[in-house]
Amino acid sequence: MLTTGLSAQPLPVYLDESKPVEQRIDDALARMTLDEKIAVIHAQSKFSSPGVKRLGFPDFWTDDGPHGVRPDVLWDEWEQAGQSNDSCVAFPALTCLAATWNPQMARLYGESLGEEALYRGKSMILGPGVNINRTPLGGRNFEYMGEDPWLASRMVVPYIQGLQSKGVAACVKHYALNNDEEYRHQVNVVVSERALHEIYLPAFKAAVTEAGTWGLMGAYNLYKDQHNCHNDIMLNQILKGDWQYDGVVVSDWGGCHDTDEAIRNGLDMEFGTWTDGLTMGATNAYDNYHLALGYKRLIQEGKYTTKELDDKVRRVLRLFYHTTMQRQKPYGFLCSESHYAAALKIAQEGIVLLKNEKLKDGKNGKMAAPLLPLDLSTAKRILVVGENAIKMMTVGGGSSSLKVQKEILPLDGLMERLANHNLQTSDVKCQIDYARGYVGDTVQSYNGVTVGRSIAERRSADELLQEAVGKAKGADYVIVFGGLNKSDYQDCEGHDRKDYGLPYGQDRLIEALALVNKNIVFVNISGNAVAMPWADKVPAILQGWFIGSEAGEALASVLCGDVNPSGKLPFTWYRRLEDCGAHALGAFPGTWRDDYKIIDEEYREGIYVGYRWADLPSKHQTSNFKLQTSKPLFAFGHGLSYTTFQMGKPQANSKHMTADGQISFTVSVTNTGSRAGSETVQLYVSDKHASVDRPVKELKAFQKVFLQPGETRDVTMVIGRDALSYYDEATHQWKAEPGKFEALIGTASDQIAAKCEFELK
Ligand code: BGC
Repeated sequence: MLTTGLSAQPLPVYLDESKPVEQRIDDALARMTLDEKIAVIHAQSKFSSPGVKRLGFPDFWTDDGPHGVRPDVLWDEWEQAGQSNDSCVAFPALTCLAATWNPQMARLYGESLGEEALYRGKSMILGPGVNINRTPLGGRNFEYMGEDPWLASRMVVPYIQGLQSKGVAACVKHYALNNDEEYRHQVNVVVSERALHEIYLPAFKAAVTEAGTWGLMGAYNLYKDQHNCHNDIMLNQILKGDWQYDGVVVSDWGGCHDTDEAIRNGLDMEFGTWTDGLTMGATNAYDNYHLALGYKRLIQEGKYTTKELDDKVRRVLRLFYHTTMQRQKPYGFLCSESHYAAALKIAQEGIVLLKNEKLKDGKNGKMAAPLLPLDLSTAKRILVVGENAIKMMTVGGGSSSLKVQKEILPLDGLMERLANHNLQTSDVKCQIDYARGYVGDTVQSYNGVTVGRSIAERRSADELLQEAVGKAKGADYVIVFGGLNKSDYQDCEGHDRKDYGLPYGQDRLIEALALVNKNIVFVNISGNAVAMPWADKVPAILQGWFIGSEAGEALASVLCGDVNPSGKLPFTWYRRLEDCGAHALGAFPGTWRDDYKIIDEEYREGIYVGYRWADLPSKHQTSNFKLQTSKPLFAFGHGLSYTTFQMGKPQANSKHMTADGQISFTVSVTNTGSRAGSETVQLYVSDKHASVDRPVKELKAFQKVFLQPGETRDVTMVIGRDALSYYDEATHQWKAEPGKFEALIGTASDQIAAKCEFELK
């Protein structure tokens, strides 16, 4: 018999690691008092909840956020705690991770973040976020993984597995339908059951059923008139019923509004922004939370038994055994070289080369070649323009804001790269010049974290433009770092963008620069697409995302060709806002009810989100939807390389989906250029004769392959019956209809190189 050393008493079951966890949970639960049970299901501070001290369960600490471990705030305030050991590595925001189209990068991301969290004493990371990018105005799209349910699913699973392999819980968020930010506590989403299951839920489902996430955060908004943090359909029926989720449902901060619903509808842990769990409140009033003394009183009065409470506590104890009570987990470390290397690698793989044209008349008298990578053997002067070349992007944006140990700014990264080049070369030395060009937001602090050098600027917009244009004349290259930032109404929590255009007069600046210098590169720093009315006049465009600590180094390495870009867009880059379904149909941001308490947002575009909408004209014409008139500026899945690839003819292993419900496609890919690089082969499924409306095509498999110049490799992609199915609203089941299908194989949603027909019997 196992005994405790000191007293030679038998080790209680709940502490006995040789016993199955469920047995330990039963034992712990049986020992807990009502007060102890109530205590573990709600917060005691901004980011912690109590353990059970009497039984040796430590307090539970959680923290934001998806792309780095947030600095500590005071116990009951949003002010900084002022720790000196909470500076972290900022990993690229999740749009960039999704743009790698590389699940191995997601695994590396999760593991690295987990190690940082462990060192900081956090047992749960409030992320990753997988809300679907429904409109490019969505303020938090930068925190999410794009518009496609399959891509987001494939990327979220290894992120969670990597994080949890370190003994740190994921808390996948915000479940669900939190697709925009404006009035996020009041938006009641009206969406078809089919769109809910086909578009908005798959990534959450994968997080639960494939990755086994230990935590999940309810969203602020409402669905069918009930807040998602205590929504019967979402939590009881789908999550805990259909998907058999055995982890905890955590409220978003202040997302709990009703005690009875919180008790009955599946919320397990209540956390808050202010101390009444809502938006305002007295100091240290955690007892006032819905799942606190009010709940205890209802039990004592006999309105509830402890049935619901015991279920919640069981889940919390399960979480404890995975994390705080897990003694085999590593210690973790912060700001290690390996974490910086991971952040750099993910950033380099996620940067997307959107456009790279050859100049008609060549450059420097040489044969015309694509503008990028920069030719440093001849360039003498490179002009860098734009606020985003010198602005820190790891602060701001809401709860994902960080306090970083370092953030290499784009201008600094390029200067460093060129200094190295100048040292090592006997060629012409290349100088960097800088012009501000425009002023956006000069505040370099957020929630008490102040960073970087001052970027205050007093000159007028005209003066800045004239300076930039003057310096652009005669420069070998002009590289403009513009885009959005993390300020309110940009890529930021709490509000959505007000319009699709670039802010701060950037369009005027870019047009003026393009008039005086043809060798212009625009690097867009953002988590969202933006309008680019000048796109035809700018030969090279790079999507640089918010890529964290190593931003400047990653961008410089791609611009200079040390790294061959391989990112692919995880969303459709519409030419105009009205090319997006939600906007074409006037279905954003919704309609206030007469009492101005709730705003109904009807997702009229249904399943036609992103490329599913952009593909519409060729199939559905105008019967159901207003015809969109322009093709995307850059399609979903698009991304260029400095080398070229050729795909062979795909071979299917059968003409029919086989009895085991699978079919595989093999295609060869050859690197036909002179640089090593990666291509991502994408497989979309098209249902040729369906009894219901179906998208023209849907992504169902992809694979990224790295090739040396001249190298050829076979890529095999397997799909199952799931890939052919749609959600049938009549039976509330997924259904694959027998008949003809096509596998469309290509390198972007608008670059389909081959089609393979097959049949489902
Ligand atoms: C955000 C969550 C975040 C929480 C804690 C909320 O406002 O919506 O994503 O995890 O705050 O900071």
